[in-house]
Amino acid sequence: MNAGLLGVGKYVPSHILTNQDLENRMDTSDEWIRTMTGIEERRIADEETDTSHMAHDAAVEAIKDAGIKPEEIGLIIVATVTPDRPFPSVSSMLQYQLGAVNAAAMDVSAACAGFMYGIVTAKQFVESGTYDYVLVVGVEKLSKITDWEDRNTAVLFGDGAGATVVGKVSEGRGILSFELGADGSGGKHLYQDDKLKMNGREVFKFAVRQMGQTALNVIEKAGLAKEDVDYLIPHQANIRIMEASRERLGLPVEKMSKTIHKYGNTSSASIPISLVDDLADGKIKDDDIVVFVGFGGGLVWGGLCMRWGK
Ligand code: ACO
Repeated sequence: MNAGLLGVGKYVPSHILTNQDLENRMDTSDEWIRTMTGIEERRIADEETDTSHMAHDAAVEAIKDAGIKPEEIGLIIVATVTPDRPFPSVSSMLQYQLGAVNAAAMDVSAACAGFMYGIVTAKQFVESGTYDYVLVVGVEKLSKITDWEDRNTAVLFGDGAGATVVGKVSEGRGILSFELGADGSGGKHLYQDDKLKMNGREVFKFAVRQMGQTALNVIEKAGLAKEDVDYLIPHQANIRIMEASRERLGLPVEKMSKTIHKYGNTSSASIPISLVDDLADGKIKDDDIVVFVGFGGGLVWGGLCMRWGK
């Protein structure tokens, strides 16, 4: 019996911050941002909208899509590095707001790989028979830790949330394999010290190497070959990193998810937000082999290979 994804949802703030807007605020250009990152615009939440609000709206959509009731959820996992406050956890706030009266709640801190860590944790609880349904949310309000004086990082990030309900799926479908990993020696390259700090070049080198390798590892662990992959959803950090992973799998352009131009890097929310848009656009069909792969501050990474469908 495999665990799979039963429903999905997302929330992105309505306010759009374009590259042109940033040109007016700092020494940068639309051309530099597009060429170096693939980003054209990103969403920024207003003061009143905190991480838990975005998580809530994405979660409500995912629960509805899964066709379950909040009281049926056994565990809520929220992946975030930008909680409303250090505690109570965003997941506890969500448990109350949703009326998920039978759910345990915990937050996971694994930066941009957080959603992968969340899904893999959910899978263990579902496949062991502990919980029927686990709600997993990836959510960030990165704008509150962005250093708006630092052009190296200010142009990269956006706010948003993506959610999914993990539960049992039919034979042969669901999560076939996964990989999680960490290399804490790289923690110095990407961290929060009041504001977010990043050595972009070091993170870039790590990401190019690790994203492709993790994708290949999960394909092999699933007993499949690169040629079997129908769709790749990489963490939307930088189009050049994403392209390197796609090329390593030998996939054509249309088989890789690309939403970075619309939302920038939304960290743990980027993979589920992309998944929601790709499903709406009909890019993923039942029984497709889909590979997800993410990396982030820690340094950490995570990937999984699944056969889509309930
Ligand atoms: N506008 C204009 N010029 C800029 C900007 C900007 N916004 N930012 C940097 N530059 C300049 C630099 O000052 C430098 O100029 P110089 O050569 O005169 O010194 C030049 O552009 C090149 O800068 P680099 O930082 O060396 O460029 P690089 O090729 O490394 O690209 C980038 C920078 C896009 C940040 C890249 O390193 C990258 O994407 N790294 C990975 C980031 C990432 O994926 N982070 C995800 C993790 S997020 C998380 O976990 C929360």
